[in-house]
Amino acid sequence: MGAKYQQFHQRSISDPEGFWGEQSGLIHWNKPFSRVLDYSRPPFAKWFVGGETNLCYNAVDRHLKDRPDQNALIFISTETDTEKAYSFRELHAEVNRCAAMMQGLGVCKGDRVLIYMPMIAEACFAILACARIGAIHSVVFGGFASHSLANRIDDAKPKLIISADAGSRVGKVVSYKPLLDEAISLSKFPPKHVVLVNRGLDKTMERTAGRDLDWEELRTKHMNAQVPCVWLESNEPSYILYTSGTTGLPKGVQRDVGGHAVALAASMKHIYCGNAGETYFSTSDIGWVVGHSYIIYGPLIAGMATIMYEGTPVRPDGGILWKIVEKYKVSVMFSAPTAIRVLKKQDPAFLKKYDLSTLKFLFLAGEPLDQPTAQWISEGLGRPIIDNYWQTETGWPILANPMGVEDIPRKFGSPGFPMYGYNVKLLHESTSEEVGTDEKGVVAIVPPLPPGCMSTVWGNDERFVKTYFETIPGKMVYSTFDWGIRDKDGYYFILGRTDDVINVAGHRLGTREIEEAISSNPAVAEVAVIGVADQLKGQVPVAFAVVKDPAQIASREGRMKLEGEVMKTVDLQLGAIGRPARVHFVTILPKTRSGKVLRRSIQAICEGRDPGDLTTIEDVSALQQVRDALAGKA
Ligand code: PRX
Repeated sequence: MGAKYQQFHQRSISDPEGFWGEQSGLIHWNKPFSRVLDYSRPPFAKWFVGGETNLCYNAVDRHLKDRPDQNALIFISTETDTEKAYSFRELHAEVNRCAAMMQGLGVCKGDRVLIYMPMIAEACFAILACARIGAIHSVVFGGFASHSLANRIDDAKPKLIISADAGSRVGKVVSYKPLLDEAISLSKFPPKHVVLVNRGLDKTMERTAGRDLDWEELRTKHMNAQVPCVWLESNEPSYILYTSGTTGLPKGVQRDVGGHAVALAASMKHIYCGNAGETYFSTSDIGWVVGHSYIIYGPLIAGMATIMYEGTPVRPDGGILWKIVEKYKVSVMFSAPTAIRVLKKQDPAFLKKYDLSTLKFLFLAGEPLDQPTAQWISEGLGRPIIDNYWQTETGWPILANPMGVEDIPRKFGSPGFPMYGYNVKLLHESTSEEVGTDEKGVVAIVPPLPPGCMSTVWGNDERFVKTYFETIPGKMVYSTFDWGIRDKDGYYFILGRTDDVINVAGHRLGTREIEEAISSNPAVAEVAVIGVADQLKGQVPVAFAVVKDPAQIASREGRMKLEGEVMKTVDLQLGAIGRPARVHFVTILPKTRSGKVLRRSIQAICEGRDPGDLTTIEDVSALQQVRDALAGKA
């Protein structure tokens, strides 16, 4: 396996200060740091201590000298048939206007700004404006509904929320404002102001006088604003992004400033091979970590144009992504396996219809990339398909093929090798010893975590330590909560989560969150949600619910009616993103004698596998109920 890569990786582990000290030169520092790494309080790693920088400066201002008129942001919506490109100069002007509008509303360094927006250019301006003035952004995915949004408002306590009247999905207007209003009314810490972009999609949008303000009105007041970048110490927080875990309450992943900028700049060079002047196209959403790292910050820091795409891969037809690649001469593309599986059902001629000569690589991440899908797209495009494995917590790849260092032969199904800075180990779940070749272990990282990884859980250092560093017995190592194996050639393979997190079409969801949403339906006494393998989406949530009144589900009609109602409850609480594919009704759930729901056994039955060791089960008939429900007998 690649000698050059091995040397590069080895150095990053044995001499992290030397290695990252060199990488730090990829970004602009207003004041140099005094120490590369302070690891005096494990597992908290402080990178580039004392250095001062600004993410917006590195993403925008820094490029004004060499490439002011080059495209920086290209907004494309096939939902509203809109296309607009902003040069670095124009992006700079818009970000300044937005920063001035935030300052005018009293937003200062350290204040939180919650961004609940569709994939529109204003979302990018808002994110960068926060970075410019040192406000901490908390972007909430537009697919989340009121209850989830309220949880995030209460945890981050934003001074300001920026939103829009609506998004659009598959030609259907999705109103944001009613969900936001409901969330604010549920919240214990309502924001003082809400700024709304009015796209004219939802003509019925209501406004609360004194609180709700119009983006465009404020913008026009600040047309010539020049807001200086606020220089931040490298370890100050830049953003919070909530992600699901084992509990019902999502964790606020907090990231820093300097380490974040250096890590993304380094990844653009060593992994993604994106160069200034080229165009980067990530099909993700700004509500997810891929959107943060590789729609907004990474490409812009590298001086690339970045594409923000509101639309699906198949509208108006299955060639739309490739049409965009041709038109904007995309050199690096980033998507998720689900998108490719969707395209696989389309006419393969679309892959040949457009001039894709500028495209160097297609990176795929977020969920397991199955071999047939990898092979299909690899042959169809004739370009390297690079699987990369990482998490919201890490912000950039843990495993990948470091194309900028060395192009190591790829194996379909494997996301490759540990990236520089990550000291990856596969540990036995109970002995905590390293497992051997081809043996399954928990993917763990020996701290300190490299720059760019989460610095802590927002407002809860203890939760950070407990959740991530104390789950592998006897060792203070970071657990990814993924199973993995390494083959004899050193290639890693990811086998799925060790916890109750599921992955639906590349979207990470906690089964506990869905269970909590379902439990709020008054008809439901108890529920278990599991992830079941799905050909297209990777996994889908399936619920097994015990009802309070069995008469309600005595008939098929009754069951169908209640199933619909439960799904609606999830839509309202969590958003359609968490809606179970099926809700089955049973009278008891399979549990251990100590009362733990046997989720893995239910999952195995749903996937047609053996339910495993059942010696601890309280009542075996509960499993039969699961089987009967699946067979449509219940
Ligand atoms: O289970 C792993 C899976 O997605 C989880 C992280 O999801 P999220 O926090 O949304 O971050 C996505 C960043 C790309 C991981 O714990 N996962 C992510 N990438 C892969 C993957 N599973 C298999 N192969 C991958 N390439």
